[in-house]
Amino acid sequence: MRVLFYIIIFIVVGQFTLVGKPMVVAHRGASGEAPENTIPAFNLAWKQGADAIEGDFHLTKDGQVVCIHDGNTKKVAGENLVVKNTTLAELKKLDVGFKKGAAFKGTSIPTIEEVFETIPAKKKIYIEIKCGLEIIPPLLREISKSQLKKEQVIFICFDAKVIQAVKMRAPHFKAYWLSNVKRNQDGTFTPSLEEALTTLRKVKADGMSSSRAGINDDFIAKLQMAGFEHHVWTVNETEIAQWFMDRGTRSVTTDFPGKIKGALKEKVSN
Ligand code: G3P
Ligand code: CA
Repeated sequence: MRVLFYIIIFIVVGQFTLVGKPMVVAHRGASGEAPENTIPAFNLAWKQGADAIEGDFHLTKDGQVVCIHDGNTKKVAGENLVVKNTTLAELKKLDVGFKKGAAFKGTSIPTIEEVFETIPAKKKIYIEIKCGLEIIPPLLREISKSQLKKEQVIFICFDAKVIQAVKMRAPHFKAYWLSNVKRNQDGTFTPSLEEALTTLRKVKADGMSSSRAGINDDFIAKLQMAGFEHHVWTVNETEIAQWFMDRGTRSVTTDFPGKIKGALKEKVSN
């Protein structure tokens, strides 16, 4: 019992001393106030003091890596083009800003190179792979071409096989498996803790980034005790961000990085 107590103290204290304070990650940029996955959203996130940005990436017909959430352009541009069947030049003609307000009219879908260019020294990017394994070689080429250091780049994906492939090709980058966590009526979880740990070990992930709902203290603590980091998305309320940070969650992904960063100044990374 005493040993367990010291292990828990070590983990909790370690979160703040050994590995630094938790990070505030701008979900699709500062997407609460600017068009998601665009340069204005990423620049606003930096202006608001975000520690990292999160962006969603797909491959175009001509092999370019672009930042957009869905596999088609309908939600952000109105016009419905399928990203993998469309060239970069064709995608660049679309306006993905006007829906968020007149101030953003004329904003285009950025390439990953353009997104990388916004990243200040020491800040990070969470690259969410939204398509399949085919994007990994071009993504790694883009990272090599950039000025980014390995600590600045983190991969995330819902498909554990993609995380496994990233860790096989480029083990020096951190990679987190994304998963929703559902609490069932009988108190069990889907995935169960054991299933989550099996997946994380199999694909050699560094941690799990979970949905905010469903997960509880015990699930988070046991993940951490098994040696995995816990991260969470999408948290726009200060009290909930605080709840996760108090449990050693390493990053909180939010649409409002300025609000979360400002409210939790003491707790989050400077
Ligand atoms: O950070 C993870 C989160 O972005 C996953 O969900 O749909 O916003 O890409 P989604
Ligand atoms: Ca995402």
